[in-house]
This record gives sequence, structure tokens and C-alpha cells, in this order.
Amino acid sequence: MDITENTLCDAFQRYFFCCRQIGSLPWQDLAQQLMQQPCLILNILEKHESTEAEPQDELYNALAEVLNAEQTTKSYKSYFLPSGGTVTLCESKAIISEGTTGLVTWEAAIFLAEWAIENIDIFRNRTVLELGSGIGLTGLVICKSCFPKKYMFSDFHQKVLSKLRENIHLNGFVLSDDNDYTKKPERVKDSDAVQMSVLELDWESITEQQLSQIDADVIIAADVVYDPDVITSFSNILCKLLLCKKVEKSLHIFVASTVRNSETYKLFQTKLDEARLKWQIVADHKKKKFVYDVNCPIQILQVF
Ligand SMILES: C[S@@+](CC[C@H](N)C(=O)[O-])C[C@H]1O[C@@H](n2cnc3c(N)ncnc32)[C@H](O)[C@@H]1O
Repeated sequence: MDITENTLCDAFQRYFFCCRQIGSLPWQDLAQQLMQQPCLILNILEKHESTEAEPQDELYNALAEVLNAEQTTKSYKSYFLPSGGTVTLCESKAIISEGTTGLVTWEAAIFLAEWAIENIDIFRNRTVLELGSGIGLTGLVICKSCFPKKYMFSDFHQKVLSKLRENIHLNGFVLSDDNDYTKKPERVKDSDAVQMSVLELDWESITEQQLSQIDADVIIAADVVYDPDVITSFSNILCKLLLCKKVEKSLHIFVASTVRNSETYKLFQTKLDEARLKWQIVADHKKKKFVYDVNCPIQILQVF
């Protein structure tokens, strides 16, 4: 296999494991390499039939299986980390299911994960709280690439929390003390590794006392400012978190958002201004690392 074939294999692997639409895969490049043959099984069948050899049931069965494959409601997506290894997630195929947007990975989560990989020192040896984690892409990438001391995923939707736990286990981590704000969580596979937990945390009902027990150094969130009601409760929790921060500690907050509607995004910035929170736009990372579509601009704000 030469370098071109290797690169093409790599591209197919990345697109395939991220469950990109079949049509978006680099078929043109493959076709050139397979002498203009668009479908491998059909091509093998054609070649086989032309040899007048005995028909091969396996080939027809394989073709029938592909053509008759039933549509499932979930898929497994794998994201290849630049450092090696993968993050694999079981996620819904629909952008809204079970009454929540939290069962799929949104572009801002991937963007934030890419940015984190280029800013490891912000996370290294720190306690990180993620708000509205959804099914866990950003956190799992950070846990596998950025060496945090402790990582707390959180969300408020029961189905999302359950899928999040499933995905954490799928990636080889073990949670021992879900939803305990005070106890130390542990990962049993490797005693030096990150301590992980999943918190049921509703921005509207969590108390300052509960928040002060979390004692995070870094707070992150992706795609959580998509609706005016959500924006109000999300801005309020940022205020509460900053209010209950210990005086001697610094707290770093980063919020990644897809700017689908500039008015909605402006409302978030206005809420921050009203709460007298300062914010600044963070410089984008240099290199795209995962395969995903960016249809609207994505921006990370640092809030302090
Ligand atoms: C658009 S999804 C983003 C999920 C994930 N961060 C991502 O970008 O893929 C918004 C997430 O915020 C969570 N969420 C919305 N309102 C919340 C609240 N009041 N408290 C906690 N989580 C909330 C939802 O359950 C959902 O998982």
C-alpha cells in the first residue's frame, strides 16, 4: 500500500467511524484508485460472474444484508484522538429525541474538545466541571488527552445522564460515586488517572451550598445558549458559581456556542453584562482534528 492509499484509508476510517453520511465519504478518490468502480461488493460480484466460476452465496448474502439493513435509532461514533486512541459514543440519530437535544453530539462540543487539546495546560491537574455535558464527547476527549485531576460531567435530563454513564463505561472508565458532590470519585483501571463523576445538576434548582462543594478550577459548557429561557438559567448558574468561589481560588469558565441566531447569542452576552460578568472571545484553535460540519460560526467565550 503506498502513501496515497494509506491517506485514503485513514480518511475513510475517520469519516466512517464518525458516522458521516455515505455520500460525503471521499468516493471520488476511492473510485480513481479502484479504477472507477463505485461499489466494492457489486464490483467483486461483476468480476466474479465474468469468470464463469460457481456463484458465491456469501457475496450475494453480503449485498442483501447491506441493502436490507434495518434503520436503527442509535449509532456508534468514534473520534480518533491526535495522540492515538479513540473516544466512542453511542448516540441518537435524531437531533431531538426523548424530549431532549442532549442525546447527540453538537458541533460546539467537538469544537471545544479540539480547542482543549491545543490548550492542555488549562486542564492539566485541575478539577473540571462540565455543565450540560450531553452524552459526553468533550469530557471524554479531555479526560483522555488533557490530564485533568478530576472531571465532573453534569446534566439534568435522566435519559441523557443514563446515556452519558453508558458512554463513560464504553470508553473504559468506571464511575463509583455518581451524583455525590463531596466524595472522591475514582477510576479503577489506573490509579494515576483522572477521577470521574456524573452529577445530576439542574441549573435552575441547584443551591449555592451544593455548588460550593463542587469546588472546581475550570468550568466548561458547549451548546447551552440556544434558547432565551435556557440562557437565563445558564447565566444565573455562572453567577452562582462565581459567587461561591473561594476567595483564594481562580476559576476559569469557557462556553462554546454555535451562533445559529445572532440575536439569541447577543442575549447571552447581554445577560452576562447585566450580571456584571466580564467576558472575552477566545482565539480559535489552529487545527481541525475531527470530522464534522460547521454550518454556522462557533465561538468560545471566557467568562470571569
Ligand atoms: C444542545 S445540548 C448540548 C449537549 C452537549 N454539551 C453537546 O454540545 O453535545 C444542551 C444540553 O444542556 C442540557 N440542559 C438544558 N437545560 C439544562 C438545565 N436547566 N440544567 C442542566 N442541564 C441542562 C440538556 O439536557 C442538554 O444535554
